[in-house]
Amino acid sequence: MEKVFLETYGCQMNFADSEVVGSILTGAGYGLASTLEEAGFVLINTCAIRDNAEQRVRHRVRELRATQNRRQELRIGILGCMAERLQSRLMEEEENVSFVCGPDAYRRLPELLAQVRAGQKAAEVELSTTETYADIEPVRLASNGISAYISIMRGCQNYCAYCVVPYTRGRERSRDPQTIVGEARSLFERGYREVTLLGQNVNSYRDGDTGFAELMAMVAEIDPQLRVRFATSHPKDLSDSLLQVMASHGNICRCIHLPVQSGSDRMLKLMNRKYTVEWYLDRIDAIRRYLPDCSITTDVIAGFSTETEEDHQATLELFRKVRYDYAYMFKYSLREGTYAAKHLADDVPDAEKTRRLNEIIALQGQIALENNRLEVGKEYEVLVEGESHRSKERLFGRNSQNKVIVFDRGDAVAGTYRRVRVNDCTAATLLGELLGD
Ligand code: 5AD
Ligand code: SF4
Repeated sequence: MEKVFLETYGCQMNFADSEVVGSILTGAGYGLASTLEEAGFVLINTCAIRDNAEQRVRHRVRELRATQNRRQELRIGILGCMAERLQSRLMEEEENVSFVCGPDAYRRLPELLAQVRAGQKAAEVELSTTETYADIEPVRLASNGISAYISIMRGCQNYCAYCVVPYTRGRERSRDPQTIVGEARSLFERGYREVTLLGQNVNSYRDGDTGFAELMAMVAEIDPQLRVRFATSHPKDLSDSLLQVMASHGNICRCIHLPVQSGSDRMLKLMNRKYTVEWYLDRIDAIRRYLPDCSITTDVIAGFSTETEEDHQATLELFRKVRYDYAYMFKYSLREGTYAAKHLADDVPDAEKTRRLNEIIALQGQIALENNRLEVGKEYEVLVEGESHRSKERLFGRNSQNKVIVFDRGDAVAGTYRRVRVNDCTAATLLGELLGD
């Protein structure tokens, strides 16, 4: 049996997509290789969101030349956002790549692989307005048997000025709620205790009468022992009705990822984010009102087009106000084809972007540590996930707020809920002690 080795870069959505790809290929008679050595194909699922994500993939592709020199039969295919963005240009630039396949074309993979085996190069990059892979039961590749991703919608049409996603993942479309609930229920019956509903902008989920809040309620009502998470939300669409559904379902996790991107109204307008700082802070207030114990995380970009020191200071000020539990922080990276690439100058010097980014990172590190210190003495229910990376004697789990808590293993078992008291912390981790049931 010919085997395929899957490598995944980028966001959670890509990891979920690789599980769909794994399912399509095993369904077509391919095996999934656990090492590169036993594989006839290596498929790399790629991210195009920033230039450094693409450079990492190109580096990997070049590194694979050495393996191909030893084993001429090894073929490389590029999947995902980079395949969609660069199309067959990628095969011209990286000659050891045999095919490219965009995120809406994975059903064609068996044909693509057959063409490549017949000695041809192949590209399949058509985007779809309807494809959701709803009927495909993903193989759980990265899974610990406890927690799984469920993709509920695809694509994005918000067209934030800096972002390449609308071009690589196409128009928004939602998967039907029955298959989503069915997938979640089947995971729960197989022992899974946590599902994360994924989409580029989950708040715009809609299928007939079912909006995102209704869908969340349906999934949460499968069983109170099933935790439900979701990512990512756009601030403009974060509705009170979703917060109400969260408040009335204890198993919907108290954690909201709400990318802000900038704390300056001028930048937000230029970024086409469709909200102001005032609107954003009102949404933060609403979260705190409905869900007082909710953690809040964000994404932010330093050094977007024309960003001044004053704009940057406004971002720091917003971070001080919101006091995020975690933030993904990036330097602006110009992406070909976006509104910003066509109409705005990438005029903040790289050294200045780095300085601003480092200031945000330092501030956020301090805030995360202070937030964690407030956790000391509190008790939480954690879903135990496995052994701590540092020591076999300790286990780790997450609380509803998605914070990692490490504790001495005692009689705790992975995949179960246990109560833990927090005794100590770092900026990234809480340290706790197991309590009796
Ligand atoms: N440069 C830097 N960061 C970006 N993001 C999206 N596009 C870019 C870009 N061109 C960030 C945003 C988004 C996250 C997934 O990646 O913060 O929320
Ligand atoms: Fe990109 Fe904006 Fe869509 Fe997020 S909402 S994927 S940042 S265009």
